[in-house]
Amino acid sequence: MPEPLRVGVLASGRGSNFEALVKAVEAGRLEVTMALLVSDRPDAPALDIARAHRIDALCVDYKQFPSRETHEMAVVAALDERRVELVCQAGYMRILGAGYIERFRGRALNIHPSLLPAFPGLHAQRQALEHGVKVSGATVHFADEGVDTGPIVLQAAVLVLPGDTEETLSSRILAEEHRIYPEAVRLFAEGRLTIDGRKVHIRESP
Ligand code: GAR
Repeated sequence: MPEPLRVGVLASGRGSNFEALVKAVEAGRLEVTMALLVSDRPDAPALDIARAHRIDALCVDYKQFPSRETHEMAVVAALDERRVELVCQAGYMRILGAGYIERFRGRALNIHPSLLPAFPGLHAQRQALEHGVKVSGATVHFADEGVDTGPIVLQAAVLVLPGDTEETLSSRILAEEHRIYPEAVRLFAEGRLTIDGRKVHIRESP
């Protein structure tokens, strides 16, 4: 049996998407090895989630580095050291530059709380409400040089309801994020994703 795909996760905060991935692995719905959780902040709850599930957890504190590039190089070195084959950005709130993208092109996924290309960047749910859209949702995509711009793997739509607040809409979108992120990682792990320019083709299950 080949060794399961080695996955590393980057998270800056709460870590609920990371936890959804971990729970999918523990429940046997996702056959990968959670090799490492990296946070850029020492107080990130995601670090505690990793420790609670006995996953290697590392804080690469951005404040300890003189520049964005040197911090990013340290993150890449940690991922390489654990032989990470796929990186999942899960609420990682730092812009990732060319060094990281070149190293993990086609092997790094990101999750974003909108139907991209609408509402990239911060506060996507607030942007959607302020724009008055009737449908928003969640997107898993490959990372590229832009902010929330790479080829789209999976999306889930969420209706915007009258009276929605940022909190109520965010929580319904989050439930979809927790569903589609493990699914996208599973498709990657099964070798069923092919990137073709902006498009991601998903091969049927054999
Ligand atoms: C999630 O909603 C994720 O989609 C979003 O941050 C949140 C992190 O929550 N990411 C972005 O906005 C990326 N542009 P979590 O820490 O509980 O997974």
